[in-house]
Amino acid sequence: MNVQATTQAPADLPCDLLAVGVGSDLAELTDLDARFGGKLLEACSDRNFKGAAGSTLALPSFGNIGAKTLLLVGVGDRSRRAVRNGIGKVGREARALSVTNLGVSFPATADAIVEGISAGNYVYDEYKPERDRAPGLSSLVICGSAPSAAASVRAGAQSWARDLVNQPPADLYPETLADAARELASIDGVECEVWDFERCRDEGCVGIIAVGRGSSKPGCMIRLSYRPPNAKAHVALVGKGVTFDAGGYSIKPTGGMQTMRCDMAGAATMLGVHKAVAELGLPVNVDTFVGAVENLVDGDAYKLSDILRYRNGVTVEIHNTDAEGRLVLADCLIEACKVEGVQHVVDAATLTGACVVAVGGDFTGLFTDDDALAADLGAASEACDEGLWRLPLHAPYKEMLKGEWSQIKNVGGRAAGATTAALFLQHFVTEGTSWAHLDVAGSAFHDKAGKRYAAGATGEMVRSLTTWIASLA
Ligand code: BES
Ligand code: MN
Ligand code: ZN
Repeated sequence: MNVQATTQAPADLPCDLLAVGVGSDLAELTDLDARFGGKLLEACSDRNFKGAAGSTLALPSFGNIGAKTLLLVGVGDRSRRAVRNGIGKVGREARALSVTNLGVSFPATADAIVEGISAGNYVYDEYKPERDRAPGLSSLVICGSAPSAAASVRAGAQSWARDLVNQPPADLYPETLADAARELASIDGVECEVWDFERCRDEGCVGIIAVGRGSSKPGCMIRLSYRPPNAKAHVALVGKGVTFDAGGYSIKPTGGMQTMRCDMAGAATMLGVHKAVAELGLPVNVDTFVGAVENLVDGDAYKLSDILRYRNGVTVEIHNTDAEGRLVLADCLIEACKVEGVQHVVDAATLTGACVVAVGGDFTGLFTDDDALAADLGAASEACDEGLWRLPLHAPYKEMLKGEWSQIKNVGGRAAGATTAALFLQHFVTEGTSWAHLDVAGSAFHDKAGKRYAAGATGEMVRSLTTWIASLA
């Protein structure tokens, strides 16, 4: 997508579709209305368009302005959320109308426009019949100041992550996810190493081995580094890369299993961040670890009451093979904490249905004991307008994980399921390490299309985490 800024008045922009964000007082329409000889406000009134957030009105321009079609998008009180949702809607409408050449005038920063339009315009139509594939935007012209190049990089990484998640599990499995990571090594400063299944066994990655064992597609641990000159900070990222989660012997019902190709979204998020940080050349060392496996049923699959002995001494009794993500993340967290000089460890995972129940699709759940880190991540998510909500990492609930035959079980009870999952992970984080866990179970994948995103993967948190890392430099 070619992105440009212009000082031309919106009315003068030559384009297929001109999208204008309109507040409740319709102030943005004054100049345009003059070009329509007063007929524009009249049409708004006839069609009951009052600039309410979420409302739209598309009108042919009949040559009165440079654009062929005018799309008015209500942004109500012009709150940041309403404006961002409106921009997303423009991206989505442009795709629905097969618009390739879009002009935008919105009360938002140019970066927010680029990111929002890109996210809204995204669809995954790889497997649609040719006739149903609407073209994406080729040109975006923004009325106002120019966006930063970084906005396009962040938006590109978000779309890249969404593509990985949306791919069906027959195409995207541990080895092909590793291939995607290997390709990132073509970026300056990036190196990729993959521990295959045998190596994982030799290294004692018991979680990856236990869960991955039930699939004929071997699991692996993907390890990426990024080393810029003059690094000013150092972070490690960990992603859950369960390329399909059938639940194992604690098998999921069909409805719950249908969308479980999304279970590597944490991995896609972190790989997307790694890509963006490296492409931007940010002066921060980054190490990324992904545990990539499929959780299936097989004669050799792991079983209830199996006990795993982790390299840090923690023993884990399996009470539910569907609580597999934490087992795989544990291996990666152990590795991440070993990285010399690392200041923060952050993981992202579609970890619990409980988090979906708690905060729904508009928020990622945040768990951490580090208030400063919580504040910094919160600020980044605020700046990127991605929902992030802190939930309790309440230590007393560790009691619920106490094992009968081992140190801990891999599940707590029904209560506080997202918290007990986070507390489980904490057993594999070296004491004193600044660590945050992001549960993206609700935010990473939407069953239905919404205001900003088509149905499927969202790529939420790619921009926020990239922005957070930029803030460390
Ligand atoms: N991948 C799922 C969590 C999930 C649920 C992600 C819905 C996205 C949408 C995870 O592996 C899982 O199955 N978790 C169980 C944990 C339980 C057995 C303690 C869950 O949430 O039911
Ligand atoms: Mn599961
Ligand atoms: Zn899972």
